[in-house]
Amino acid sequence: MSAKGNGLMGWIDARFPLTKMVEEHLSKYYAPKNFNFWYFFGSLALLVLVIQIVSGIFLTMFYKPDGELAFASVEYIMRDVDWGWLIRYIHSTGASAFFVVVYLHMFRAMIYGSYQKPRELIWLFGMFIFLALMAEAFMGYLLPWGQMSYWGAQVIISLFGAIPVVGDELTLWIRGDYVISDATLNRFFALHVVAVPIVLLMLVVMHIIALHEVGSNNPDGIDIKKNKNEEGVPVDGIPFHPYYTVKDIVGVVVFLALFSVVVFFMPEMNGYFLEYANFVPANPFKTPEHIAPVWYFTPFYAILRAVPDKLLGVIAMFAAIIVLFVLPWLDRGKVRSIRYRSSAFKWLLVMFVISFIGLGYLGALPATEGRTLFARIFTIGYFGYFIGLWFISKNENTKPVPERVTS
Ligand code: HEM
Repeated sequence: MSAKGNGLMGWIDARFPLTKMVEEHLSKYYAPKNFNFWYFFGSLALLVLVIQIVSGIFLTMFYKPDGELAFASVEYIMRDVDWGWLIRYIHSTGASAFFVVVYLHMFRAMIYGSYQKPRELIWLFGMFIFLALMAEAFMGYLLPWGQMSYWGAQVIISLFGAIPVVGDELTLWIRGDYVISDATLNRFFALHVVAVPIVLLMLVVMHIIALHEVGSNNPDGIDIKKNKNEEGVPVDGIPFHPYYTVKDIVGVVVFLALFSVVVFFMPEMNGYFLEYANFVPANPFKTPEHIAPVWYFTPFYAILRAVPDKLLGVIAMFAAIIVLFVLPWLDRGKVRSIRYRSSAFKWLLVMFVISFIGLGYLGALPATEGRTLFARIFTIGYFGYFIGLWFISKNENTKPVPERVTS
């Protein structure tokens, strides 16, 4: 392909920079040649985004955002619409898959220091994506108008009531009514199908533009641009297309196989992906016995419950997310990859992972005295990671980083 070519490509290139864009972002985008397993999750997140948008469009054709009709319209999709059950299960499984993939994607950035200079903005755009994704999932969960949709939203929205002075007005404004009602359902529907997806798409574009501006990090955490050949090409780089487009297809095939197993054989995933209480229509007069958010919110929910005071709990829960935004500045280390970092760093990370998974597990269960104690310990472990990192990273005992990638 050449920008000065004849034929259709030449015609298009004279009017739109197609070849230039393909070269810049694919065939002449040089990515480090040592990408491993952890580097599948960015492209998988893109895949899930597309799956969610396409399946969501089809669901919207049959769903009714009305307090009287919503629950029945979902049952209608499941029983009467041709292939409706498949579309719905793809969308509900896709929501959980999105968080699986994104959590692993974020963890990759933490082990290889991908958030460090000069990739702080990639991380920040990522964090805004994460926020938008949480909002998207939360509002989507109200739409089936089941018991858990209703009461989950009730619990989370009422948290805003803990904010001094404006709390009550704010919850009223969010709900559009004194309780969760048809008005809430309508606005959540509008935000879920139009507003937040647009924001998400824009953020993903910015995320990738920022990534391609500075180039990808890699499992060794070294800067491949420092070592270029006479043509100006990084010696440890390979063109993204065809090498990584082909490699990513392997990830896509494995992912789709696992995804299909869930969609066809275990779409409810034991109540973790679709909660049992949500097969009962929303009833404002009857609180379910145990209200728990879907698994991807449970780590943050457990932090909220671990703090005895409501306002402080809400602050702790939001702080758990906000602290991730400042991670690039909390980590003062000079070395990026875990491969060359100190054992103190590794131990802190182990503590973080155990705390996060422990909180996720506890957040899904009803609180007892013993569980609350553990939730408090894990909350300290969660925040301890960030505080510890700030202290240890300044004068860390690191290993020498090689000149070239070690794959
Ligand atoms: C819809 C969600 C997301 C999509 C579609 C997405 C997409 C991508 C893609 C395609 C890449 C390049 C391939 C790769 O490195 O795996 C990437 C890199 C990256 N993403 Fe994301 N991302 C998403 C969410 C996030 C989130 C939530 C964060 C963190 C808060 C994040 C942080 C990063 C970082 C730091 C890199 C650079 C990694 C490196 O070069 O080592 N991303 N993203």
